[in-house]
Amino acid sequence: MTLKQKMQVLTDQKKGLLATNFYNLETLHGVLRAAASLQQPLILQLTRSSIEYMGLQTAVNMGRSALEAFGVEGWLHLDHGDSLELVRKCLDAGFDSVMFDGSELPIKDNIKLTAEAVKIAGEYGATVEGELGYVAKLGQSHVQQMFTSPEEASLFVEETGVDALAVAIGSAHGFYKEVPKLQLPLLSEIHAKTDAILVLHGSSGIPEDQVQAAISRGICKVNLATEIKNMFMKSLQALLRDTDEIDLRKVFPKATEKVTELVMEKLISVQNLKEY
Ligand code: 13P
Ligand code: ZN
Ligand code: NA
Repeated sequence: MTLKQKMQVLTDQKKGLLATNFYNLETLHGVLRAAASLQQPLILQLTRSSIEYMGLQTAVNMGRSALEAFGVEGWLHLDHGDSLELVRKCLDAGFDSVMFDGSELPIKDNIKLTAEAVKIAGEYGATVEGELGYVAKLGQSHVQQMFTSPEEASLFVEETGVDALAVAIGSAHGFYKEVPKLQLPLLSEIHAKTDAILVLHGSSGIPEDQVQAAISRGICKVNLATEIKNMFMKSLQALLRDTDEIDLRKVFPKATEKVTELVMEKLISVQNLKEY
């Protein structure tokens, strides 16, 4: 099943699909072990900086072969693609799905470039995510948030042909200074005005009940990055304080396990497994 098809099925069932970023072998294995043990599908995402860190083809090969090794139904997705060049490179390297993030551009330019990305991805049969409105990036003030307008969302989806749309409804990347409050009525309005699959960015730090409420109002793809990075590094820091062990293969797996525990909890909540 393509990612688009999968997300459509899940949207109809009012279920979420977790999209986890990975940074290295350990975080990749950490998230996949969680998906494997719960037998749940998962999106593996890479940002430009993670691609640059691991190397494009290395990252793709790692992601792809790990999905197979763990027996997980999953897709490779470019997170926050910032140029058409990067979009094409990732598709050439074997990504299933790409995000073109033109959210910082005037809507006219965002539409133009996102439509281009859709055209390029069409050659590969890949899924495309766009963003309209603005979800604050890491380290930026949350005041810079600009909510998605339902009318503009409908126009944007029609004119670009995107499969999925990242909406700005009160979330932000990274952790929050204060507990966020998602604009749920706004989300419902957006959902009513467009057929696109809806994406929640910045889910780290959002209380579980709000994420679930967002899923019940139309969100399907739920992006999780910071909590994964934080869990791995904080666990590793604690482990290193207590040991002189230099064999990283003995130390890293304990931090990886913590990532698995975290992602299992998220999968249970996002994919609504409690009822089973
Ligand atoms: P968080 O880092 O807040 O989880 O956001 C992740 C994200 O939106 C990736 O695109
Ligand atoms: Zn994001
Ligand atoms: Na966040």
